[in-house]
Amino acid sequence: MPAPGESDVDRFKRLAAERAVESIQPGMVVGLGSGSTAAFVVRRLAALRGEGRLTDVVGVPTSVGTETLARSLGVPLSTLEEHPVLDLTLDGADEVDPELRLIKGGGGALLREKIVAQASRRVLIVVDAAKLSPRLGTRWPVPVEVLPFGWRSQALFLEGLGARVTRREAKDGAPYQTDQGNFVLDCAFGPLERPEALAARLESRAGIVGHGLFIGLTSGLVVAGPEGVEHRRPA
Ligand code: A5P
Repeated sequence: MPAPGESDVDRFKRLAAERAVESIQPGMVVGLGSGSTAAFVVRRLAALRGEGRLTDVVGVPTSVGTETLARSLGVPLSTLEEHPVLDLTLDGADEVDPELRLIKGGGGALLREKIVAQASRRVLIVVDAAKLSPRLGTRWPVPVEVLPFGWRSQALFLEGLGARVTRREAKDGAPYQTDQGNFVLDCAFGPLERPEALAARLESRAGIVGHGLFIGLTSGLVVAGPEGVEHRRPA
């Protein structure tokens, strides 16, 4: 049933989230992603709890925003200190290629999202069909999280790799700051021929603390669009 006033894209996000939550088993410790699709996951989990289901599931949030939402809905939360290995993480993405490689970080939570994904036995990515892309970088820049110290040097380094670099701004025009107090440089490379090679270059640079290329982390994809909801696994 569409919610009143719900857009098509929100309906697809909600339907994908509802299907993905079916993968949560009683007693699991679950990573809770960030962004509007992940918010549908949190709301669905809270609704099931309201029906007396999955009441022993504990969430580990990937951002302050998700933590605030989950707390407001009464979803029990934990931390990676208490649970350094998670059963499952459910998270959104900005762009997904046919090999289920991702660009993430449109909402700025890329570093905690990757830490939580790497700590998870399974990572289920939840998207509307508009996120599917023939090649990463076609629709979205690669977000790169940098320390404020020396950020201009990182911007020059990234331009040297071929990117058009924009420092992300908050609504008030000040530099956007992540939950860790870092800056995000949105790097428009265009369609990426070798995302693995780019990821390796970014990971070798001091001052870059994270990037939005998620490679080899996706265990499954739930995608919803005009043709329905589909659960895909990596080839
Ligand atoms: C948050 O930092 C991101 O990685 C999100 O997962 C991504 O931007 C998807 O967001 P939406 O679900 O809001 O499209």
